[in-house]
Amino acid sequence: MKVTGATRAHLLAFSQSLITTKQGNTLEMLLSRREQGEPIAYLIGEREFWSLSLRVSVSTLIPRPETEHLVQCALNLSLPIYTKALDLGAGSGAITLALAVERPKWNIVGIDRLSEAISLCRANALQIGVKNVQFYKGDWFKFLKRNFYHLIVSNPPYLKEGDPFLTQGDVRFEPREALIAGKDGLKDLEFISKYARDYLRKGGWLILEHGWKQGPSVRRMFSKFGFEKVNTIKDYSGNERVSQGKWMFNR
Ligand SMILES: C[S@@+](CC[C@H](N)C(=O)[O-])C[C@H]1O[C@@H](n2cnc3c(N)ncnc32)[C@H](O)[C@@H]1O
Repeated sequence: MKVTGATRAHLLAFSQSLITTKQGNTLEMLLSRREQGEPIAYLIGEREFWSLSLRVSVSTLIPRPETEHLVQCALNLSLPIYTKALDLGAGSGAITLALAVERPKWNIVGIDRLSEAISLCRANALQIGVKNVQFYKGDWFKFLKRNFYHLIVSNPPYLKEGDPFLTQGDVRFEPREALIAGKDGLKDLEFISKYARDYLRKGGWLILEHGWKQGPSVRRMFSKFGFEKVNTIKDYSGNERVSQGKWMFNR
């Protein structure tokens, strides 16, 4: 499909069609990159997330199905119609855009520290045709409005340095900065849960994706920083994957 530009149905219906020499060369080149283990999403430049077709690039993480649990958690909350939401570490824009499509009256800001990621997010927003999003380059909360958001979500880097997972499968090709968070993998989760309090409104929610063994640490952090109604949601494999907490105070 990538090489010929034809649909799956067309390829199946006309499977006897010949491809051109140029297409054959492109196919050979893509196959050899795939043989080296390069992820399909990078080879074809796109990946489906929440039934949206998103452009991806080597500067950002390939959106994962696990992250759809975070989107579902946000949609399950009882939030105002005109919710102001913030997605920290937007990457390809996956979370921001899924929320924007599902909740057209929300306004969602996506932040990433990489300009390449922000360009990708904006291109994806344009392609999907959503207007209720803004993407900005930034370092976590820097320059954002305090006491403003009803919802803060993030899928931050959460692997520890030297994690054996970094040497396996697709992950080998993804940017280290999007994956690694210090010696224990908790650095960014801790930073976000500590400072989210200053940017949430009273009654606002924080939802974080984390590693499958990090649930107890993240719940402890949430409680330490004063969040209430703290709980963790498991993914389809039964692993703790997403934790959330409610901020009940004025600061
Ligand atoms: C695990 S990826 C998640 C990407 C996307 N949200 C997703 O779920 O597919 C983490 C993202 O956080 C961004 N990031 C890392 N440190 C950051 C920081 N200090 N400020 C803003 N973004 C940061 C990375 O560039 C990367 O795009």
